[in-house]
Amino acid sequence: MPEIASRNHIKKIDLIVEKALRESHISLEDVDGVAVTYGPGLIGSLLVGLSYAKAVAFSLNKPFIGINHMEGHISANYIDNEKVKPPFITLVASGGHTNIVIVRDYGVYEVLGQTRDDAAGEAFDKISRSLGLGYPGGPAIDKASKLGNPEAVNFPRAYLEEDSYDFSFSGLKSSVLNYLNSCKMKDIEVNINDVAASFQKSVIDVLADKTMKAALENNMSIICLSGGVARNSLLRNTLEKMVLDKGLSIHFPEPDLCSDNAAMIASAGYYKYIKGEFSAFDINAVANLSL
Ligand code: KG4
Ligand code: ZN
Repeated sequence: MPEIASRNHIKKIDLIVEKALRESHISLEDVDGVAVTYGPGLIGSLLVGLSYAKAVAFSLNKPFIGINHMEGHISANYIDNEKVKPPFITLVASGGHTNIVIVRDYGVYEVLGQTRDDAAGEAFDKISRSLGLGYPGGPAIDKASKLGNPEAVNFPRAYLEEDSYDFSFSGLKSSVLNYLNSCKMKDIEVNINDVAASFQKSVIDVLADKTMKAALENNMSIICLSGGVARNSLLRNTLEKMVLDKGLSIHFPEPDLCSDNAAMIASAGYYKYIKGEFSAFDINAVANLSL
């Protein structure tokens, strides 16, 4: 609910900044610059953060840096592994996006593919709801899948055209919903864990295969995972195995750095800061900002 989200941003932003400063034992005067997300996302929430950050940077007379949220997810990879340096290939999969991106240099991106309908995380959330596993769906399905058989139901995998790095998850979503409906009509008891595991395998097979193919075809030796879906245990294990076979290296941030967080925005801001790439105070929030 966008309206409630932005109202809560207003209520909490001050408290959260204070808490972050207190727990890191620093004061605002120690800060070198202020980085903030300006898109993509819900416009009301973006505007709250953006206005707040502008006010802080202006009053401290410190550099002000607008960050693309997806660039933040990618930059989470730099935080806990100093070996990760461009160029590399990354899968960025969250609740709103599913992209395969070549990171040519810090801040230089080439998007190879994206979803044509639902994002991967969105598919996890929708199927979880229909299985009665709640929200957010990714962790719930990940957990249920550990108790289920991924070969129990043969759901489709959408690879699209042979040379395409795009994704599509709406067909898979319909297929799971049809399966659940037909079980209900025939009065067949559904094994939730089996359906969760079979659905998860269908999503992860495509994500892993396309990411691996993109790395090999573009001669990239490092693969990184970014975004909330990068927490997925099957995705991590599958790509780890594939990478070992091909002699490439893989990195994924620790789970809390995969989900939305402020450290990843600071990381993206740091690389712009050292290049002197600051933003003007008149930048606006952009709900559909692309990489
Ligand atoms: O990046 P994120 O924290 O927020 C957005 O920018 O959207 O991603 C949230 C998404 C949700 O759809 C959630 O279900 C999914 O990431 N997610 C997972 C897992 N943990 C979170 N998806 C699959 N497996 C997980 N373990
Ligand atoms: Zn996110």
